[in-house]
Amino acid sequence: MAQSVIEALLKSKIGLDVNSIGSRAIASAIYQRMVNCGISQMSSYLGYLQDSPQEWQALIDSVTVPETWFFREPESFALLKSYVLSEWLPQNSQKVLQVLSVPCATGEEPYSIAIALLEAGLTSAQFRIDAVDISQKCLLKAQKAIYDKYSFRGSNFEFHERYFQSINSEYYLQESVKKSVNFINGNLADPHFLVNTQVYDVVFCRNLLIYFDHQTKEQTLHILERLIVAGGLLFVASAEAALLMKTQLVSVRHFSAIAYQKLIKPHNFEQENYTNYQSTIYSQLPTQTSTEIPIKNKAEIYYQTPIKANNFNTNLLDLAKTAANQGRLEDAVKLCNDYLNQNQMNAEAYVLLGEVQQAMGQNEQAIQSFRKAIYLQPNHEAALTHLALLKEQQGDRAGASLLWQRIYRLQR
Ligand SMILES: C[S@@+](CC[C@H](N)C(=O)[O-])C[C@H]1O[C@@H](n2cnc3c(N)ncnc32)[C@H](O)[C@@H]1O
Repeated sequence: MAQSVIEALLKSKIGLDVNSIGSRAIASAIYQRMVNCGISQMSSYLGYLQDSPQEWQALIDSVTVPETWFFREPESFALLKSYVLSEWLPQNSQKVLQVLSVPCATGEEPYSIAIALLEAGLTSAQFRIDAVDISQKCLLKAQKAIYDKYSFRGSNFEFHERYFQSINSEYYLQESVKKSVNFINGNLADPHFLVNTQVYDVVFCRNLLIYFDHQTKEQTLHILERLIVAGGLLFVASAEAALLMKTQLVSVRHFSAIAYQKLIKPHNFEQENYTNYQSTIYSQLPTQTSTEIPIKNKAEIYYQTPIKANNFNTNLLDLAKTAANQGRLEDAVKLCNDYLNQNQMNAEAYVLLGEVQQAMGQNEQAIQSFRKAIYLQPNHEAALTHLALLKEQQGDRAGASLLWQRIYRLQR
């Protein structure tokens, strides 16, 4: 009984969908807090919680997942650079690029944005990053900007030497990068989130929407749309891409990265104009992707159009990716399964299938798909990472930790 009240409070205050991490994980976080507070009854803990804002913060820290690292989904940062250099800068050379990173967790994401912009040739005076998180504990760590090896999980560390000083196996971020980020304590589930502030040219909102309940997701999408300037970009995590179908934002691709753009002229904007507009922005894009955005069901086209035999399998997987990117998740699952019927040994297809299943909220099926991918390719980093995050969401911290160690060993 007390647990359901706490779950309802977590939902109404921070938008947490109990199913996203599971009741067991919430119970274990509550018990952990009860032990720390020296309280043995959950009903007494509930009373204490309702009277103590500090305890709310502590409980939030226990139930939220602050997992993050530098240049997570690195393609997003390549797209950011491409957008800034090819579109934003030529039109705004005298302005300061305004960026929002929410949630920023312990700072790796906003600092990666800063490093990417510096690497693109901007000076620190040409951009400003607001970074928001609900967890004060995370923000304190972010402001210190001292990291250990677990914050660096990619393979490309050439930026290390330029931006960090290594002392006793810790990495101290350069002062000039620290200064470019302004940390703010805030709750994205609050309908008045940043209501009186400016709008942003670029918003990163990755790996939080998946934890929100349906209503908070919808509300947050409206908030994000409001916070982006016309022509600006929104980055979400790949598992969250499907949610963007409900907004007026349109997908923009750059190789495997996807972001969502708020059109300058969203209403009555004809497809033809849109295509021209789109292709002028990202000239590097393969031609087929520049016309892909708001068109109707491509799976129908695939099922009605004969495909050359030698391209058949590749096309099925490409079509599955396209369907997933456009938020046609059921089509994507079907296409993945059709592909896998003929290519049972393809780990990539299982990873894609798992990502789509995760976006559909089918976490158990997603786990099975990621396991199959790992069985076929034991060092498949994306599959291991997805599985680790899912285990964490389910409260299996020991299982997740084993996977993180395995991922870390791969990257050394
Ligand atoms: C998995 S991290 C994501 C960090 C980063 N965006 C990334 O993708 O690596 C999730 C973060 O969301 C924060 N969070 C959870 N609920 C929130 C809310 N309602 N408002 C703002 N931040 C929230 C948590 O404190 C945690 O730091």
